[in-house]
Amino acid sequence: MSAGQRPGYFITLEGGEGTGKSTQARKLVSLFEARGRKAIATREPGGSPDAEILRDILLSGVVKSLGPFAEALLFSAARIDHLDKTIRPALAKGITVISDRFSDSTRVYQGIAGNLDQRKVAMLERAVLNGFLPDLTMILDLPPKIGLERAAARRSAVADGEAPDRFEAEELQFHRRVREAFRALADTEPRRCILINAEGSEEVVTQRLWAAIERRLLNDGGGLS
Ligand code: TMP
Repeated sequence: MSAGQRPGYFITLEGGEGTGKSTQARKLVSLFEARGRKAIATREPGGSPDAEILRDILLSGVVKSLGPFAEALLFSAARIDHLDKTIRPALAKGITVISDRFSDSTRVYQGIAGNLDQRKVAMLERAVLNGFLPDLTMILDLPPKIGLERAAARRSAVADGEAPDRFEAEELQFHRRVREAFRALADTEPRRCILINAEGSEEVVTQRLWAAIERRLLNDGGGLS
């Protein structure tokens, strides 16, 4: 990073299905850029060409029968490539990275909702991240019924409609556990994580997210304007 260049932040958006993370990631990039700070939006699983291939495999559901540990291993493999090819190079150039999902999704979906042994989840996280965690994790919180309806509406808007993916197809009970696990994460790691109410218009949710970024990271007191 050149002298005087401000650091890039690593920000993650987490939460259940249909909480608007990908839309919000793009909006936050625009807000950073409007303030003269370079930023990119990326996602997991995916975010690099090879990790996107693993995304297709994971969301197709073909790995489900191998169980949550095998799924966690593949999510981790995708994360290694995403970190190497996209996240670390951007941060090294002072670019802020906003990722739609990251390692907390493995903790929650495979670890808690999927009943994977917590020691295995922690061991994998240590092996892949070695202590590297986001500067800020914003958890978009929404009743799962509403989120699943939003996700279904998004799918039916696509030509021919799309079938629910591997995780969208899980029962409501699974998604309730996901929500509770994310809420518990916000309680147990309050320095890194913040719960954001995802109900309301896109604009209102963007304002909530940006206010949290200002408070936690930028601390310059400016508003959205
Ligand atoms: P999405 O990006 O459209 O939300 O889809 C990704 C799905 O993958 C979502 O249902 C959550 C799930 N997932 C995991 O189960 N574990 C993970 O580590 C990650 C990154 C995602």
